[in-house]
Amino acid sequence: MAGIESVPVNVDAHGLDVEAGIQRAPGAALAVVTAGQQAPLGVTLSLARRLRLLEWANENGSWIIEDDYLSELQLAGRAAPALASQDRSGRVIHIGTFSKTINPGLRLGFVVAPTALSNRIADTAAALAPAASLASQWALAEFMRKGHYLRHLRRMKRTYSARLAALQRALSLPATTEAMAGLALLLPLPQGTDDVGISQQALAVGLAPLPLSIWYADVTQAQSGLLLGVTNVPDEGVEDCCRRLVELTQALM
Ligand SMILES: Cc1ncc(COP(=O)(O)O)c(C=O)c1O
Repeated sequence: MAGIESVPVNVDAHGLDVEAGIQRAPGAALAVVTAGQQAPLGVTLSLARRLRLLEWANENGSWIIEDDYLSELQLAGRAAPALASQDRSGRVIHIGTFSKTINPGLRLGFVVAPTALSNRIADTAAALAPAASLASQWALAEFMRKGHYLRHLRRMKRTYSARLAALQRALSLPATTEAMAGLALLLPLPQGTDDVGISQQALAVGLAPLPLSIWYADVTQAQSGLLLGVTNVPDEGVEDCCRRLVELTQALM
């Protein structure tokens, strides 16, 4: 609708392949990245690639939109620094959200951007429908000012870590965060497995895994897998859910 021509870029173990992106679209007006935790695989963009991306944006006068949707809820280790904090040339527009940490129903997020853009961003925000509620913004600001938000984040990370452990136990997986993809556990499936079909059939038994293959822009490169969210794992009955999911998956492989 906005007349944007998008160019997908490959991701590997170091995150977005910045060099490949520059070659495919050297004059791009903007690059949209999830540098902290690639969505959905969870890989962090390496320092070398961050520096290259920033250098490209600076030389080219391009913008980088950093969609930092999950750094507050990284369960293991410290979250990587925001790309915006490494930007010396004012080319990064950093966007955060309260959808994951509090509730998507709030419809609140935040933008940290170079001051010169503030009027344009304010105009855009004013055109959003529905506009973010002022009362919710005040309440949230107060919640943060009094320190409740940080306490809430610590509590959520403990809760999600416990749910991850329960899911790993139920699936007889090692208790590491290596297979984490953001706030989901990635169960890779053999190439060509119909992960979309498995996910659809799982809905019928009350489970909602997300198929990995639908995230690929190029279907010929799509890997098959299931993303199991750890945030809403029930306190009881997780073994039963996992057993049904494994049976279903094996039947369809
Ligand atoms: C990659 C990514 N970015 C951002 C968001 C948050 O978007 P919003 O703040 O519009 O709810 C999500 C939520 O699911 C996401 O997956």
